[in-house]
Amino acid sequence: MKVTAILGSPRKKGDCFNVIEMLQKSFNRVEETQIDYIYLNDIELGFCKSCLLCYTKGEQYCPHKEVTTMLLNKMLECDVVIFASPVYEQHVTALMKNFYDNFSFMFHRPRFFHKRAILVSSTGGSGLKETLSYMKMCAIGWGFQIAGTVGVCGATLKTDEAYKQNVQNNINHLVNNLFKNKESTPTLYQLAMFRAMQSKALGSSKKKDISFEYWKEHGWFEKEYYTNAKISLFKKIYSRFIRKIMKKLITTKLMIIR
Ligand SMILES: Cc1cc2nc3c(=O)[nH]c(=O)nc-3n(C[C@H](O)[C@H](O)[C@H](O)COP(=O)(O)O)c2cc1C
Repeated sequence: MKVTAILGSPRKKGDCFNVIEMLQKSFNRVEETQIDYIYLNDIELGFCKSCLLCYTKGEQYCPHKEVTTMLLNKMLECDVVIFASPVYEQHVTALMKNFYDNFSFMFHRPRFFHKRAILVSSTGGSGLKETLSYMKMCAIGWGFQIAGTVGVCGATLKTDEAYKQNVQNNINHLVNNLFKNKESTPTLYQLAMFRAMQSKALGSSKKKDISFEYWKEHGWFEKEYYTNAKISLFKKIYSRFIRKIMKKLITTKLMIIR
């Protein structure tokens, strides 16, 4: 199993790192695993310049293409990507957010359908749910299958042995399932995301946007999901219903004034 960890903490050996080490321990119980670490603090990934070239012409035109191509290849070359960020002001760190911003086009041209993501976060006591939900949305938007989420209280992990053991047991369970279930059927969340992006891609046909062509090339306008994974009748009905409401929900006339 090839695993890449993308770490959005400026602390190299901090709490998120401790969780990844626990994941490593669980992987090694099943199969000797080497984790390839990418510390976002160490690579020179500039802030997204909002040139929108990734949307209009392609990701190869990104002003940060040297770094983004390296990151993209790292993610494409492995089986599992661990996305890890501590909670900063109830959200992912700026390092992690900048990483997501630089890959914003991925929501419109997803490609990680046969790869699994593990989402890791660590907190002082709050914001774990919000941070992990955001990371989950990004991973699903990019096409990943979610193998699991691990959220911990960093300080407790270092001081409370029983808590640490409990986290390790749950991680063992997560990793065992990852090895057992090679491919999963799309969840309701994944189907809803697919329909949302299908609606968006269809709407972009008039703009100079390459996402429309990408969807057309892949034949996704006629499909129920990105892959040929089996979808139950119930999920198909749900997904078609979502498709109808997405057309109304995704509007360019959105306004919130209170
Ligand atoms: C700038 C900054 C902002 C933080 N914001 C929060 C927060 O909103 N809520 C919280 O519970 N902990 C917060 N923390 C604590 C970290 O989430 C916590 O210490 C985490 O375990 C650090 O993980 P790391 O060692 O992998 O960086 C913050 C820490 C820093 C440095």
